[in-house]
Amino acid sequence: MERRPLIAGNWKMHLTSDQAVALARTIADAASDVADRDVMIAPAFTSLPAVAEVLADSPVLLGAQNVAWEEQGAFTGEVSPVMLREFGVSLVIVGHSERRHIFGETDDLINRRLCGALRFGLVPILCVGETLEDREDGITMQILEQQVRSGLAGVEAGDMARVVIAYEPVWAIGTGKTASKEQAQEAHRFIRSVVGNLYEKKLAQQVRILYGGSVKPENVDSLMAEPDIDGALVGGAALKSESFARIIHFI
Ligand code: G3P
Repeated sequence: MERRPLIAGNWKMHLTSDQAVALARTIADAASDVADRDVMIAPAFTSLPAVAEVLADSPVLLGAQNVAWEEQGAFTGEVSPVMLREFGVSLVIVGHSERRHIFGETDDLINRRLCGALRFGLVPILCVGETLEDREDGITMQILEQQVRSGLAGVEAGDMARVVIAYEPVWAIGTGKTASKEQAQEAHRFIRSVVGNLYEKKLAQQVRILYGGSVKPENVDSLMAEPDIDGALVGGAALKSESFARIIHFI
């Protein structure tokens, strides 16, 4: 089963709108020759309208970094899926480890966000990953299974084909420490097997699983060569146009 690779840049809480526009322009140029893979950038909410204009004639997809689950309502500080769609957002990150660990988002909340994204036609990128302590305690796979199962609770098979999962070991995020390709492949294969147990094996083969955690030009090729790694969710290197351009063009 051929899965179309996805290289996604998560800009986190960086860049003013002007800076975001400038970076988006260079990425749109860099991605103009790319036909066999998807490229996405997720700027801060405040830059979405301006970046959407830059990407209007580009194959680069617009992503958001979080989403609420209702169309509108009393949800101070939140942004609804309909508001994101208004600016051409097509994918949204949910359950990022910074949301889990800094903002205390629970599996249940993340599941609501994911279901809300699906209900309003957005593609959710569900992030899962163990902490260093989990890894040292030997419970990595249990944590991954629990996060995948809770994140996908109530998602029907028909919707599951649209869901993207990102494996981001917390100890590799922004630390310069990348999981080895063997560690990453082992986790990806395991996540695929969990999806296969929840749904059908055939469906699990269609689901894209991205790796995130200190992805850079130097390691992207070897990570992408692993059979269950279908793309990358890139933080720091996505803010540097040359690095991200090279990552997009992984071999
Ligand atoms: O979502 C991407 C991310 O958390 C990885 O960040 O800076 O390690 O590439 P970074």
